[in-house]
Amino acid sequence: MEIIAIANQKGGVGKTTTAVNLTASLAAKRKRVLLIDLDPQGNATSGTGVDKNELSLTIADVLLDGVSLADAIVSSPAGFDVIGANRDLAGMDITLMNKTDSHELFKNAMAALVEQQAATNTPAYDYVIIDCAPSLNLLTINALVATDGVIIPMQCEYYALEGLADLSQTIERLTELNPNLYIRGVVRTLYDARNTLARDVSAELEAHFGDIMYKTHIPRNIRLAEAPAHGLPVIAYERWSKGSRAYQKLAAEVIKQSA
Ligand SMILES: Nc1ncnc2c1ncn2[C@@H]1O[C@H](COP(=O)(O)OP(=O)(O)OP(=O)(O)O)[C@@H](O)[C@H]1O
Ligand SMILES: [Mg+2]
Repeated sequence: MEIIAIANQKGGVGKTTTAVNLTASLAAKRKRVLLIDLDPQGNATSGTGVDKNELSLTIADVLLDGVSLADAIVSSPAGFDVIGANRDLAGMDITLMNKTDSHELFKNAMAALVEQQAATNTPAYDYVIIDCAPSLNLLTINALVATDGVIIPMQCEYYALEGLADLSQTIERLTELNPNLYIRGVVRTLYDARNTLARDVSAELEAHFGDIMYKTHIPRNIRLAEAPAHGLPVIAYERWSKGSRAYQKLAAEVIKQSA
């Protein structure tokens, strides 16, 4: 089982779109996947067709009240499992700070899930994908402490290089809490190949961070923006759209890294 956090402190760069569609594309390749929403916005939850306001248990109950992850799992019609989030998670990082091991709550919950699955002969997940909020709050730190690798969605705009340098430093610092933490890959999102600046920045990223850049560029594609309104990953909404094919290619790259 590999735990992958989708993170970037910058907002609106395609974290949730990547989390949902990478999950669905991995599931379409017959991988067992659990998507965990760690953002009070609950976008990943509603994007998979789960009603975030109807959830009886969310990740907030797991972190705050010690409910087991297994009990909070719901299954998405798109062929994978989800642990949802909603407003109950807002302000949670302040509350959590008073707990001992506040940065390890999620890691411990994951370990308990693995044990429980082994004890009940439930097949383990191949991948656990975590959608993080656009900040380095205690929830994101909990994700990064539990994770094996981070995928960073990044838009090819003027500050991308600086942003990535900052993020690498942050992740470097967090290896104190999690020695296994590393950048699994950077995925260029909302990419418009007709835009000269985007092409230039993409080439710069390649030159400086080539070894951690995924080859797949996720294009700016209207189907990717429409799909969440239908509560569907794009593969279930418009399987052959450019956006859908891009996320399927990304999933293949991610699987290849696991081999
Ligand atoms: N490749 C794409 N093509 C078109 N629209 C996209 C694409 N990726 C994301 N979007 C749209 O851009 C907006 C922001 O994307 P998304 O919610 O995935 O970003 P985010 O990084 O998760 O945001 P936040 O930081 O608020 O959590 C959404 O409206 C989404 O539908
Ligand atoms: Mg998001």
